[in-house]
Amino acid sequence: MNKAKRQAVIAGNWKMNKTPSETKALIEEMKPLLANADCGVVLCVPFIDVAAAVEAAQGSNIKIGAENVHFKESGAYTGEISAAMLKEAGVEYVVVGHSERRTYFGETDQTVNLRTLAALNAGLKTIICVGETLEQRELGYTENLLKFQTKMALTNVTEEQLKNVIIAYEPVWAIGTGVTATADQADEGNGYVRAAIAEAYGADVAETVTVQYGGSMNAGNCDELLSKVNVDGGLIGGASLKAVDFSKIVEAASK
Ligand code: 13P
Repeated sequence: MNKAKRQAVIAGNWKMNKTPSETKALIEEMKPLLANADCGVVLCVPFIDVAAAVEAAQGSNIKIGAENVHFKESGAYTGEISAAMLKEAGVEYVVVGHSERRTYFGETDQTVNLRTLAALNAGLKTIICVGETLEQRELGYTENLLKFQTKMALTNVTEEQLKNVIIAYEPVWAIGTGVTATADQADEGNGYVRAAIAEAYGADVAETVTVQYGGSMNAGNCDELLSKVNVDGGLIGGASLKAVDFSKIVEAASK
């Protein structure tokens, strides 16, 4: 394994938090703290906050992402947002297949794949989330499940398009619970994801793909998690809503 072959990326996922004015204020607070980052820095915000976020982040090293995207280019899909709309609004990244969307909004491995293709075809960088529930882990399905979710999400994604893909391993039991995977568990899960990519695209390609860990990563545990060979960054929920905490994680990934 060779971490030097891939970029470390720390992405915040704000989930359903912050109004447009709060978005502007938080990004203004973050900008000076993140200015010296030596890794990719992304903030994925609610659709309604995108315009404020893009404007506030202008001229900084912060890239703006969305938290979902529809898989059709346009049409009668009330309430949905297309990849082209995001692109034109200044969005560069999009999260696809977060476990909260799989759990509460009927997201399946098929729709994750369709959203991934729509995002990549529109030129968006795509952060695909995979992860097992506690029950699946206890039954011993973690490796098979992570490999299956990864391969399903990447169906028909070309090797060229894969350059715009980040996979985030987020064990469902570690999200928003304060229970973090141990650094070894994170490394192992990320390793299964990389192995699945290697099976589909070859080992050399798999070495170049950024694989993040997500799930209660914070200022206190980020150093140990990010020290692992397979952990190339983080997808951060709660701690991305606090400027100082988020900047400490970015600092750890910049070492
Ligand atoms: P927390 O960091 O709040 O556990 O959330 C992780 C997550 O779901 C990021 O997408």
